[in-house]
Amino acid sequence: MNDQKAVIVTGAGGNLGSAVVRELAAGGAKLVCMNRSSQELEVLAGELPASTEFLSIAGTDLTDYASCAAAVARAVKHFGGVSALVNTVGGFQMGPVGPDAPFQWDTMMTANARTALTISAAVLPTMKAAGYGRIIHVAAAPGLKAGANQAAYAASKAAVIRLTEAIAAENREHRITANCILPGTIDTPENRAAMPNAKTDGWVSPQSIARLIAFLISPAAAVVTGAAIPATGRE
Ligand SMILES: NC(=O)c1ccc[n+]([C@@H]2O[C@H](COP(=O)([O-])OP(=O)(O)OC[C@H]3O[C@@H](n4cnc5c(N)ncnc54)[C@H](OP(=O)(O)O)[C@@H]3O)[C@@H](O)[C@H]2O)c1
Repeated sequence: MNDQKAVIVTGAGGNLGSAVVRELAAGGAKLVCMNRSSQELEVLAGELPASTEFLSIAGTDLTDYASCAAAVARAVKHFGGVSALVNTVGGFQMGPVGPDAPFQWDTMMTANARTALTISAAVLPTMKAAGYGRIIHVAAAPGLKAGANQAAYAASKAAVIRLTEAIAAENREHRITANCILPGTIDTPENRAAMPNAKTDGWVSPQSIARLIAFLISPAAAVVTGAAIPATGRE
């Protein structure tokens, strides 16, 4: 394992991203926390163990290749390389296949699929040069089968699964693995507010998904690649 290098976490200020950062920091990882808002990064930095080596990069737009490449270059300059990318960036919209659907389709494809493609394209050259890498994307259970009002969201997460498979196939010989996680409903404040009457005992905590991700970027997971791993079980 190229354990002297750093782990990039995108969407580091989000629900899952911040849980991943806390989990990896507890394990002693060197971290590059990318987020659009600098305020969230400051709050997160204050929660990490004092010994954590981390670099905060605010303002990176994952839809934009130049923005991603510049952020990765900063990470490489700071830590000497990047051993893993954990990309938690994504968005969610629901709606029927009706007049608003074409706009929603483009929005979801950009928020979920283009972002995953762009940050992957930006990080792969340094991983290939090192002959080592781990890439994790976060798709979602509807990426395998859509329900009503999920056309755009489900298609965009299916695109993340196909993207992950292609990255895995292209980079096996470089010892770079690529896998994605398929959460069901994550137990977040936003979901609790949006579904106040929902039965929440089947929801999955961000911490549980973070532990799964920590395993997938560990040396023990070297032979797992191209997988779309459901995170829908009971804790
Ligand atoms: N929550 C769930 O129930 C659920 C279920 C299944 C799958 N997922 C997936 O799990 C992942 C994490 O979900 P979450 O609940 O942690 O979401 P979250 O709290 O909303 O975090 C998502 C993060 O992505 C960032 N982001 C969005 N577009 C971006 C862009 N173009 N460039 C840079 N950053 C961008 C957001 O930044 P801003 O705050 O600046 O917008 C936010 O920090 C997502 O991919 C989501 O689709 C979530």
